[in-house]
This record gives sequence, C-alpha cells and structure tokens, in this order.
Amino acid sequence: MSAAAPEPRANMGAPEPRIDGRLKVSGRALYPSDVRMENPAFAFLLTSAIARGRITGMDLSAAEAVPGVLAVLTHENTSELKKVGYSPTGGGASTSVQELGPEIFHDGQIVAMAVAETFEAAREAANAIRVTYEETPPSAGFDAPGVEVEEVGKGRKGWLNVGDADAAVAQAEVSVDAEYETPTQHHNPIELFTTTCLWEGEQLIVLEPSQFVYGLRRAVAERLDMADKDVRVISRFVGGAFGSKAQMTPRTSLVALAAKRLGRPVKLVATRDQGFTIATYRAETRHRVKLGARRDGRLTGYVHEGMELTSRPDSYSVGGTEDTGRLYAFGSVRTAVSVVHADRNTPGFMRSPPVVPYVYALESAMDELAVKLGMDPVELRRINDTGTDVTGKNYSSRSLMACYDEAAAAFGWAHRTPQPGSMSEGDWLVGWGCASTMYPTHTASATVRLRLEADGGLLVQAASHDLGTGAYTVLGQTAAEALGVPMERVRVELGDSTLPAAPTAGGSNNTASLCSAILKAADGIRAKLRQAARDQGGEGETNDLPALLERLGLEFVEDTAEFIPKGAGPESIKALHEGRSTLTGGSRGEKLVYAMGAEFVEVRVHRLTREVRATRAVGAFAGGRIVNTRTAHSQLMGGLIWGIGSALHEATEIDARLGRYINDNLAEYLVPVNADIGQVEVIMVPEEDTYVNPAGVKGLGELANVGTAAAVTNAIHHATGIRIRDLPVRIEKLL
Ligand code: MOS
Repeated sequence: MSAAAPEPRANMGAPEPRIDGRLKVSGRALYPSDVRMENPAFAFLLTSAIARGRITGMDLSAAEAVPGVLAVLTHENTSELKKVGYSPTGGGASTSVQELGPEIFHDGQIVAMAVAETFEAAREAANAIRVTYEETPPSAGFDAPGVEVEEVGKGRKGWLNVGDADAAVAQAEVSVDAEYETPTQHHNPIELFTTTCLWEGEQLIVLEPSQFVYGLRRAVAERLDMADKDVRVISRFVGGAFGSKAQMTPRTSLVALAAKRLGRPVKLVATRDQGFTIATYRAETRHRVKLGARRDGRLTGYVHEGMELTSRPDSYSVGGTEDTGRLYAFGSVRTAVSVVHADRNTPGFMRSPPVVPYVYALESAMDELAVKLGMDPVELRRINDTGTDVTGKNYSSRSLMACYDEAAAAFGWAHRTPQPGSMSEGDWLVGWGCASTMYPTHTASATVRLRLEADGGLLVQAASHDLGTGAYTVLGQTAAEALGVPMERVRVELGDSTLPAAPTAGGSNNTASLCSAILKAADGIRAKLRQAARDQGGEGETNDLPALLERLGLEFVEDTAEFIPKGAGPESIKALHEGRSTLTGGSRGEKLVYAMGAEFVEVRVHRLTREVRATRAVGAFAGGRIVNTRTAHSQLMGGLIWGIGSALHEATEIDARLGRYINDNLAEYLVPVNADIGQVEVIMVPEEDTYVNPAGVKGLGELANVGTAAAVTNAIHHATGIRIRDLPVRIEKLL
C-alpha cells in the first residue's frame, strides 16, 4: 500500500495494478492510429480561414499537382454523404455542421481533405488549395452584436422551480446577489483526434479513439448510408477523451469515403490546433446567483440563472441547475438557463459538463454568504445539509458532511483564522478555502459476456471503453472476484463494436453499468453450472468453479448478460444496439443519486507581485463502492489537479474580430505542470448504497474537478480579501 494505492476501507476493493500498465509503459498498447496497415495513404485537413460566410470558389490545381497526391475531397465532390441529425445528448453527431461547406459556421470548420502517399505530401496539398470566401463579420462571444439568445429547457423538461425564491431572497435577513463567469476551455487529451479507415469488401473498419463504439458505428453507418452490420469500429485504447471522443465528428466519414474511393487504408491524424475546432469544447458561461438566508444561516431561497455559449445552428447546453438546485436545503429554488448562439463550433461534453460551471458559481456564492454571516463556511454547509430536495425527493445516500469532516481534519481547518489577510508566512499571504462537489450517478443498460474456462481462465468481453481510467482493470477485477478466479487469469477485451453492446463511457456510468452487468453474467454462469451438475445428477455448489467445469467435462461455460438499471426498460437494450445509451440516475428517478465530496485548498498570494500558488489540496469523496482504490485514487487526484488548473490556468483566448481561438496549442493553452501543484491528498470516505445499482457504484471519474475552482477562489478571498468572480484567476485581477 502507498499513497497511490490506498488501503481499502469499508466497501472498497483492492488496489490491483492496471492490467494494461505494462503494455502502456512499454509502448505495446496500440492506440488506433498506431495500428499498422498495408499500403496506407495519409490525409490532411484544411480548415476554414473565416468564421462566418460562404465558400465561393475552390481552386484545386496547385493541390492536385503536388507529387504523390491521390485525392482532394471538398463539398463539391462529397455530396453522397447523407445528412445526420445533431445529437446533443450523446451518440450521434457532435454538430449539425458535418459537411465541408459551402456554408461556413465557424473558424476552423473542415473545408477540404487532401490524401497522398505521405503525410508531408498531403499537408502540402491541403495547404495548396485556394479557397475564396464571401465573408460576414462573425459574432464570437456573449457581448458581440448579432448573437441570438434562446431560453432553453422550457417545455422540454422545465428547470427546477419551487416556491417563490426571488421573494425569499428579497425578504431575507442576509443575502448575496452576484455574477460569475467561466471561460471557454478545450480538452487536450495527449492522443490527438485520429481516424483510420479501411474497407474489406463491403465492410468498413474504422479505427478511431472512441468513448462509444456502438454510437460511432451507427452514426457513421447513417452518414454513409450503410447497414450497421457493415461497419466495425475498433478503439482498444484511448489516450484521454474527457467527453471529446463521445460523438461522431465530421472527420470520420471523410476518411471512410476517401478509403473507399482509393481502395486502400487512409489514415488521418489531425493536428493539435485543428483539434480545437474539429471537435467539441467547454463553452463559456455566465451566472447570476442569488442566495437568501436567515441570520442563523438557514437558507431560504436560491435563484440561479445560467447563460451558455453555443454555435449558430445547435442548442447545446449543460443546465447544471438541475444538480445544484438539490445540493442544500434551499427552501425555495428558481432556475433558468439560456443559450447564446454565436459563430463558433458547437460545444460539447467536457469532464463533468453540467456541474463544473454551475457548482463553481453556487459554491462561490455560498462562501460570499458565509462571509456576510460571519460564519465558518463548513458550518454553513452543515446547517443546510439535507437528505431531501425542494421537491421532496430523498437522496439514496449522501455523505457530504462526512466528507467535510474527514477533509477538514486532514487539512487542519480548525487552525484557520477567518479574517481575510490574517494568515501569512513571510511575503506570502496564506488563504484557506473550501467547496462542495457533487456528480450525478448515472447507470446505463449494458451487456457483457463472461467465459469461464476449465483451465481456470476467465474472459470478459464488452464493447466498453478504457479512456485511461482503468476500466480494463476494474472490470477484470469485478469478474475475477465474482467467480473466484485469480486476477492473473483474467483477460479483458474492450473497444470493438463486434463485442457485446456497451454504453458510452461518459457521465461516469461505465464502472457502475458494466460491473452490474458482470455480476449478472457471473450469476448466469453459476446458474448454468448448477443446472449442468443437476442434469448429471451431481452437486453444483462449490467455490472452485473451474474444478466443477472439469468434473462436468466442459471446456468452458459462457453467459451474456443484459443489465437494465432502475428507470430503464427492455427497449433500452434495443436502443443500445442501435447506438443510443440510456443513462438513468441523478435527479431523474424516484430517489436522488449523487456522489459527493468536500475539497479544501490552500493558496499563497505574494504580497507584492500577487503571484498565486496552490500549495495544498485535500479532497474527501464518497462514491458508493470503490472497486479499486488505486484507479479511484488516480481519478480523484487527477480531478483535483484539473480543478486547480481550471481556476488558475485554463482558458481558450478568442480573437473577437475573427471568431478565432488564438492559443490553440499546448505552449499557450495553460495547464498545470508539476511545479504548479503542491501537495494533493485524496481521502475516500466509506459509503454503502444498495439502491443505486447492483454494483453499488456511484462513479468517480467526474467528481473531483467539480467545486475545486470555487475552493481556490474562496481561498484567494481569504488570503487577500479580493473576490474573483471570473475564471481563470490571473495576477492582474489581484493587483
Ligand atoms: Mo464525460 S464529459 O461524460 O465523457
């Protein structure tokens, strides 16, 4: 045991090392673009130089004259690609702008793809294409003239609204009314956006890093007007995704079409800067939050109006008020969400999409309220802790205050002096802040096949996904424990649409859904063995299942389980095969199901230069059963680090005149490095919840980077007395 492999506490599994760890560190884990092909051709994208307008002409003569060029795809020669519907909730298409033009909806829209014998020739050819545009000045952000505001949610599901929260706040003894902003952010997984396609007769094989191989298969089949069975998607390893690889983006069908026309494999590895515009991102948001409370700290009202940026044609929104509106005993709640249509690419999922911006705003306002009340911020949360939301719905389990207690003790919170600027060390002002985190527990319908072999081997197969999270390990571990097989005898096969259907690896549902399916399949195997033993007139009750197989003269026994969570019906299995995941949970069912946590951050702000350092972070988290304390620790620690980065470093800068991202590279898109992160301590708080799903798992992948930004800005306020309400915090805001 070590800090990275914590001793399991109650309801936690062993810190098994990653079963794919050796493959990864030795370079033998083949990511989709690493797979060798016979006679590949290489593709390079050309993207739009304007953010709004129309292509009026394309001159391909110079491009086609580049030695080695094989094909140039443009909107003029790709009309056989079918239109596909935009799918804001997953699966399907990431944007309705799948075609190459002639309409231009955003800067960096793909307008052509050159294919050549070499990568270099393809790049030269792509850059030799002469495009002429008819340009319209773009509206790039919230404040640009020409944006269109749309109130979303009304009629679709309606946002949480109970009581008269505005009146409650207006009449409150103490109140806060503040506005907050979060910036555009881009997920930059180390693995770029790649697609390799080859055809075997009528069959299309797509190698692409994917969070949902069944969803990608369906969407590509639709775009190419093919049957699902004729498309196979393979994605055995994914080098980071964070939501960016959950849907079909425009590049995939272009590569498929080029491979078909050329009769040879075509490989595309898009560049880092292209990744900013050919995939999705976290949109900038604005919030107005009002909180009302009694003198004793009891909340009486919560108003949260959110505004989110989106593209011109698509209404993507995250609407995190559905979750934040349940966090405390608010008394009354009014929430509303609008989207603002601008000339930008369509945003999409990015780690903890709904809660990251909305919890940041709420948890900042809670800290402002604590200051106004002259109350310890932890006490304010304790006073307003609740097992029931404003609609009367109960939490299946909730360990928020247990998390606060453990994290506060580990952090040394009791030594804090509340007055801003009251703690310092030399020239450094020291600030301590805290915030809550929450993430809705999602469970999806899933299928999995287990095969137990007489020689003691166990095979786990599902079209599931390991994004670097440790899915291979926790799924193997769950199957091994369920059937009493040692870990080293387990083989796990994931990431191939020829395997049993599994949901999108998104919304942190993967461990909960797949482990529940595995438990069901393990039961199926035991039942089959009992039946076989009875048929032979023998005894079927044993812990040594391989020995029983041997005795029965069976080479192996196999079971494919179809798991359907509470709140989903049998039709969800059919939907899954058709590339649609049914994610249940959060606030949608009979009970509220959420993972929660408490985060404490120490910052130091230099008295003179105002440089900010995040020197310590402690997070305590409760997520139901922890299958593997090592992989869970890694997810939670990574989340805390991302959370600190989102407060202090991360932002995509936009040139408003051009509607263009200007720091679209890893040199200028700031993310924390080791020197930016001090001590990070992760505590896993035991929690048992038999209601959520058979595995008792709540999911942790998106829990820890929520609330962190507020903990950082709350700490900065404690250090300096300055309240920063727009992220990221930069030195100039503290001068
Ligand atoms: Mo995650 S943003 O649900 O892939």
